[in-house]
Amino acid sequence: MTDTNQRIVLAARPTGLPSETDFRVEEAPITEPGAEEILVRTQYLSLDPYMRGRMNEGASYAPGVTLGEVMVGGTVGEVVTSRHAGFTEGDIAQVHSGRQAYGVSSGDEARKVDPALAPISTSLGVLGMPGITAYFGLLDIGRPGAGETVVVSGAAGAVGSLVGQIAQIKGSRAVGIAGSDAKVSWITDQLGFSGAFNYKTSNDYGAALRRFCADGIDVYFDNVGGAISDAVLPQMNIGGRIPVCGQISQYNLDVAEMGPRQTWHFIVKRLTMRGFLAFDFAERYDEALQELAGWLQDGRLVYKEDIVVGLEQAPAAFIGMLSGDNTGKRLIQVTE
Ligand SMILES: NC(=O)c1ccc[n+]([C@@H]2O[C@H](COP(=O)([O-])OP(=O)(O)OC[C@H]3O[C@@H](n4cnc5c(N)ncnc54)[C@H](OP(=O)(O)O)[C@@H]3O)[C@@H](O)[C@H]2O)c1
Repeated sequence: MTDTNQRIVLAARPTGLPSETDFRVEEAPITEPGAEEILVRTQYLSLDPYMRGRMNEGASYAPGVTLGEVMVGGTVGEVVTSRHAGFTEGDIAQVHSGRQAYGVSSGDEARKVDPALAPISTSLGVLGMPGITAYFGLLDIGRPGAGETVVVSGAAGAVGSLVGQIAQIKGSRAVGIAGSDAKVSWITDQLGFSGAFNYKTSNDYGAALRRFCADGIDVYFDNVGGAISDAVLPQMNIGGRIPVCGQISQYNLDVAEMGPRQTWHFIVKRLTMRGFLAFDFAERYDEALQELAGWLQDGRLVYKEDIVVGLEQAPAAFIGMLSGDNTGKRLIQVTE
């Protein structure tokens, strides 16, 4: 083990889409773990849209990162030193030590990962936070029924690609909205979505939705908000459910767009729209992880990882993900 840590800190607060100069790559000494803590060598780092909000000064559901501090992020890697009874050296732990090669974490907050179950990178994707988000958001809030139509935006991303597949496993029809023809082909040809369209080449979202959702929409899993969501609302069926998972179309705006102004449809159709955080379901994570692992093992659930090699690539890979250059779960491979 080297004595030097490589880490990426927040250098400036962005306006609009972040740029690479908002981050700085630094070298620093590796911190020693204290009582009840573990030191983990990062193998994979997760890049997620919520990190854009953490670059801002104010708090949303969590405080922003202080300038000069390590950018936040979920990681998985090998325990190199343990001062916690639950971990020994060589264990694989999923922690939140951020964009750095070595991180100290509370052992109580770390999750032990079984490398025999699936590649350890999945603990940041299908068997981690995105999987849990898709599972509870769709099944607990969306409650899709057999034969119902589920529309998901951000459909070729980490969460959206799982939402559509889980909907199909439950006997619903999944229709996806994504930002390229290749993404549309992937979710329909490989993942079994019943239909999908490219919102970047469609000039009439309503017509595209009517084409794939002839019987209306029962569940809308909203990852993006904005004009896409405005087009979905009028096509919801009576009693429709809308889990609001993310609003990525708004994250880089300095002034939030107005809306929705289609709330009349909530009355006529008796719609329910509910925002949620994956953490709301913390007591039930095992339930989701077991069922997702079962679907993976019997081949009913497929996942894609979009892996970029090298910690120093994290700023560009993060900015690219916000702009849609990822398919499936974007990760940084920090070490072999
Ligand atoms: N509530 C929770 O607990 C929770 C947990 C995890 C994630 N989320 C939210 O869920 C959403 C998806 O997260 P993820 O981790 O799965 O990310 P992701 O979908 O893997 O990556 C982000 C994707 O967003 C799409 N996008 C970017 N700008 C857009 C725009 N203006 N309009 C429409 N789509 C746009 C891009 O795909 P295209 O090529 O299709 O544009 C991009 O690939 C995000 O909004 C995130 O904040 C919420």
